[in-house]
Amino acid sequence: MSAEVLLGIGGGIAAYKLAFLCSRLVQRGARVRVAMTARATDYIGALTFEGLSGQRAILSSTQIDADGTAPHIEAARRAQVYVIAPATAGLLARLAQGAADDPVTLLALTCRCPILLCPAMNDAMWLSPAVQHNTAVLRARGLHVLGPVSGHLAEGYDAIGRMVEPDTILERALQLAAAAP
Ligand SMILES: Cc1cc2nc3c(=O)[nH]c(=O)nc-3n(C[C@H](O)[C@H](O)[C@H](O)COP(=O)(O)O)c2cc1C
Repeated sequence: MSAEVLLGIGGGIAAYKLAFLCSRLVQRGARVRVAMTARATDYIGALTFEGLSGQRAILSSTQIDADGTAPHIEAARRAQVYVIAPATAGLLARLAQGAADDPVTLLALTCRCPILLCPAMNDAMWLSPAVQHNTAVLRARGLHVLGPVSGHLAEGYDAIGRMVEPDTILERALQLAAAAP
């Protein structure tokens, strides 16, 4: 059976790497539905993901699909794993609050599958008490957190905050989907 994967994309510089992840998931036989925050579309176009996944991206918390269904219900119901990457500082804060005002956070509330967070931000942001607190809250709530790792940051130096590589996300996502009931 092919894996049903929801991919929630945040507005961080690593968003461009999600095109590779989406492509690799499709090549591995997964059915992928992409949701993006408004800021994520500043970094990479929704059309890229629509072309790779063969499905309309979810770009609003009030979106209705052409068949009349609401993706935050239908896509969420089918999903076996929900990957949120890059999980920005803003997304971690809104997820910890239980916000539902963008499609990525809304889907986190409506899906019943495992959620895999892949944080990515600079070291100062990641190490800030607020981000550490929000991540701990989400971990305690049962969300899976993968990374960040130490490595080259867009700021031009090596430090903690780099998103794990797409292939690492791919394997963990497929593992979680396979374990889903
Ligand atoms: C060039 C640039 C790169 C950024 N990269 C990141 C990042 O990697 N992680 C992060 O949390 N915020 C980053 N930001 C800030 C976010 O884009 C900003 O907080 C945005 O509102 C996040 O939107 P979202 O969380 O709704 O997707 C960056 C900002 C700029 C200008």
